[in-house]
Amino acid sequence: MNKINILLLGSGGRESALAWKMSQSPLCGNLFIAPGNGGTPQYGTNVPLSPLDFDAVKRFAIDNAIGMVVVGNEDPLVAGIFDSFIADPATAHIPVIGPSKEGARLEGSKDFAKEFMNRHNIPTARHLSVTKDNIEEGYCFLESLKAPYVLKADGLAAGKGVLILPSLDEAKRELGEMLGGMFGASSATVVIEEFLSGIECSVFVLTDGNSYKVLPVAKDYKRIGEGDTGLNTGGMGAVSPVSFADEAFMEKVRARIIEPTINGLRAEGITYRGFIFLGLINVGGDPMVIEYNVRMGDPETEVVMLRIESDLVKLLCGVASQTLGECELTIDPRYAVTVMAVSGGYPGSYEKGHPISGLDAVQGSILFHAGTKLAADGQLLTSGGRVIAVSSYGSTKDEALASSFANIARIDFKGKYFRRDIGFDLK
Ligand code: AMP
Ligand code: GLY
Repeated sequence: MNKINILLLGSGGRESALAWKMSQSPLCGNLFIAPGNGGTPQYGTNVPLSPLDFDAVKRFAIDNAIGMVVVGNEDPLVAGIFDSFIADPATAHIPVIGPSKEGARLEGSKDFAKEFMNRHNIPTARHLSVTKDNIEEGYCFLESLKAPYVLKADGLAAGKGVLILPSLDEAKRELGEMLGGMFGASSATVVIEEFLSGIECSVFVLTDGNSYKVLPVAKDYKRIGEGDTGLNTGGMGAVSPVSFADEAFMEKVRARIIEPTINGLRAEGITYRGFIFLGLINVGGDPMVIEYNVRMGDPETEVVMLRIESDLVKLLCGVASQTLGECELTIDPRYAVTVMAVSGGYPGSYEKGHPISGLDAVQGSILFHAGTKLAADGQLLTSGGRVIAVSSYGSTKDEALASSFANIARIDFKGKYFRRDIGFDLK
C-alpha cells in the first residue's frame, strides 16, 4: 500500500492519542491536525482550520492531497461532513471516517437513537419523548416511574444535557424548564427515561457498514470528585480492560447490541463507516445502552489506542474501502490507564494561560495533550479545563496507575488537579 496523507479534525486528548497511534504507521504520509493543540506537533502539522468550516476543510484536503479525513469529535459529523465530501465532485474520492449525517443522528438526537433501538430490539431504558405539545403526557409518564428521574435534551448539549433528579416535583419542574429552552433548541424535545442502576463501561466498535471490529473496552470517570462525586466533567481518567466486561458479558454485547446495531443501520440504508461508541450499563449482568456516540470517547481513546497493537491506519483504510473484514486486529493484553491533569476550578470557571513545566522529567508514561497551546516563544501554556492525559501501561491496573501518578506529580502548572482514585470501582 502507498503512504496516505491524513487530515485529523479536533484538538483534544482524544485527537492526540489518535495522532500518536496513526503517526506510528508505515502507511502514514503527511499527518495534519486541525486545529490540534500544543502537543500534536509531535506527530504532525497543526493547521488553523475550524472542523465545522467544511469549505475550508475541503479546500485544504484538495490542496494537500489528503487521502483520508478522520473526524475526532461529533459536531462535524452531526453537521454532515461525510455527506458534504461525497456531494462535492472535487472531494468525493476522499474518504471521511465517520457516519453519514443520518447515521450521526444516533448521537445528534437522543429521540432518534431511542426509536432506532426500539425498532431493532436493542436493550435500553424505557422512554417517552416529550415536546411542549404533550407535556401532560410527560408528567403522567414521570408519575409511572420510580425516583430518580432521568431527563435528556434530545440534541447535542456539550455533554450537559442530562439531568438526574431525586424527586417527582423537581423532575416535573425541570421538564418544564428544559422544554422552555434551558438548552436552547437542543431541549425542544426531551427524552424522559427510566433510571437504570449498574456500573457503566464504554465499548468501541469500528465498522465499514458490513463487518466490524470490537476495540478494547474502557471505563471512564466523569465526576470531578473522588468516589464519583461532584459535577460532571468531560472525563477525569480511564481504565482498560474493564474487569466485569468479561467474555460472557461481551458475548451478550455482541449478540444483543453490536450486531443488531450494524444490521439495523444497513437495513435502514444508513451509511456508517467509522467508530460507534456504545455507552453501556451492566444491569445485573445484562448490558443495556445508555447512549450511542458516533466517535471515540475522550479520555477512553487515551487508553484504547495504547492497547491496539495493529496498524490503525490500515484498519481505517479497511473501513474506507469496505474491506475491514480482511484486516486483523490484535490487542495488547496489558492494562492501560490514563489520569487527566485539569485546571483548578474545572468544570466550573478556571484560568488559562499558565506555563506548564516538568514534562521532560516524565518517564514511562505517554503524555496526551488536551487543553495546551504553544505560545509564540515556544512556551507551553494551559488553554483548557482538561490539560494533559497521563497514560501508562502495566501488567496490572495498579502498576499502570502507579506509573501515571508518579508522572503526574512531575508535571506542574498553577492550579493543577487530578483524581487519585481512577479505577477505584474495578477489580
Ligand atoms: P449521557 O449523556 O446519555 O451519557 O448521560 C450522562 C450520564 O447520565 C451517563 O453516563 C449515566 O451515568 C447517566 N445516565 C443517563 N441515562 C441514564 C439512565 N437511564 N439511568 C441511569 N443513569 C443514566
Ligand atoms: N468519555 C465520554 C465521552 O467521550 O463522551
